[in-house]
Amino acid sequence: MLNETVPFDPAQDLPLLSASGALDGNVAQFAQPRGPDLLRRGAALDAWCALRARHGVWPCARVLEGPPEPRATVGDGGAAAARGINFASQDYLSLAAHPAIADAALRALGEAGPHSAGSAVLLGNTRYSLQLEQALAELLGLSQVVLFPTGWAAAFGAITALVHGADYVVIDQLANASLRQGAAAATRNVLAHRHLDCDHVRELLAGIRARDSANAILVVTEGLFSMDADSPDLPLLQHVCREYGATLLVDVAHDLGAMGPGGLGVIGAQRMQGRIDVVLGAFSRTFAANGGFVACAERPARRQLQLYAGPHMFSDALSPVQAAVVLESLRIVASSEGDGLRADLMRNAVELRALLAECGLRCLGEPSPIVPVWMGTEAAARIAGMLLARDAVFVNPVEYPGAPLGAARLRLQLMANHTPAQVRRAARLLGAAATRAGAGVGAGAGPGPG
Ligand SMILES: Cc1ncc(COP(=O)(O)O)c(C=O)c1O
Repeated sequence: MLNETVPFDPAQDLPLLSASGALDGNVAQFAQPRGPDLLRRGAALDAWCALRARHGVWPCARVLEGPPEPRATVGDGGAAAARGINFASQDYLSLAAHPAIADAALRALGEAGPHSAGSAVLLGNTRYSLQLEQALAELLGLSQVVLFPTGWAAAFGAITALVHGADYVVIDQLANASLRQGAAAATRNVLAHRHLDCDHVRELLAGIRARDSANAILVVTEGLFSMDADSPDLPLLQHVCREYGATLLVDVAHDLGAMGPGGLGVIGAQRMQGRIDVVLGAFSRTFAANGGFVACAERPARRQLQLYAGPHMFSDALSPVQAAVVLESLRIVASSEGDGLRADLMRNAVELRALLAECGLRCLGEPSPIVPVWMGTEAAARIAGMLLARDAVFVNPVEYPGAPLGAARLRLQLMANHTPAQVRRAARLLGAAATRAGAGVGAGAGPGPG
């Protein structure tokens, strides 16, 4: 076990860490344990997590003590808590700390109490949730909106409600687990297409239509990919879908509100407002609350979502406090204040990426609230994440299966309220940590993500 108070010396400490086994293995390896004892057959997983935790390379389930702000106090569940710079929380426009959001939450709490106390199809709707549906419909230019308790629930619920066993899902190979799991639960006919590759989508759609014109096809992608910070060509993708009678669904969890003109995200930047078949989002990145939504222009689809999406029908609706917070966030997002916050956020992203490039590090994708920094090996990502945590800079190391094998990275999520000084300090420490961790730095190092 390494001594956290002693500086990390790669020559001495790397061999020790390697020999411990804490740099080996991945979560996927333990996913299907065998044996009759359902509750104990995860023992190997448990031992592997504990080994990594003992050696400081287990970044999961850390504890935020206080609000998710650029400076935050982070503990590991034990006694040790450190105050440092936080790039591991998702609050892109820093709305969680906005006084108007706190006011909106308190007002709703006073007026309607703390929870919805029912599914939206029973008595779970509130005046806040109805206003929220309306506000989202106006922002997106899509009249039919259904709310969900989380973004994950919206993704899983939308796909399982709309698609059935005889239909097809064509999905970007790097799409979020919520979308992939929804697709797998809806039909066996799931085809993954190469990341962002519209020609491949066209090829798959042509293949399906050559043998089946009777059933539906849902094409699934994201506005801003959460581990890669890149975006598809939405006009082209929507055009290809129309050509083959397929329906396009775009998950805008990471870009809506935080990017694009008026906060319209990648859809706004690509002038596709009101022109995407189905838009799906999460409130948890920019709108200071848990929750999600699905929007489209067709009332029959809305009915299907309401009555067949399990997480809408069989789960209690957003609380009035959550709905009021998202409503107030939407107001700020659409205002000139929102424009200013997005400009601050983008300034931070551009600055951080430039500073990291000066350190010889490679950032994936394009400037956005997500800055994925290429590490290459899982071991390098684990060590760099640990070293940064020792320096009180909190980031999320992402490794297989969150990213392809050998394409590990550190994911930094920026906020509008990160200061230039915090960005500069993080870049300097990250450069040093990556070098000591032996990360695959440099423009040509290692393959890009699959
Ligand atoms: C693209 C995408 N959609 C949906 C979700 C789930 O959102 P939530 O955390 O609000 O449940 C995530 C979470 O990682 C995501 O990245």
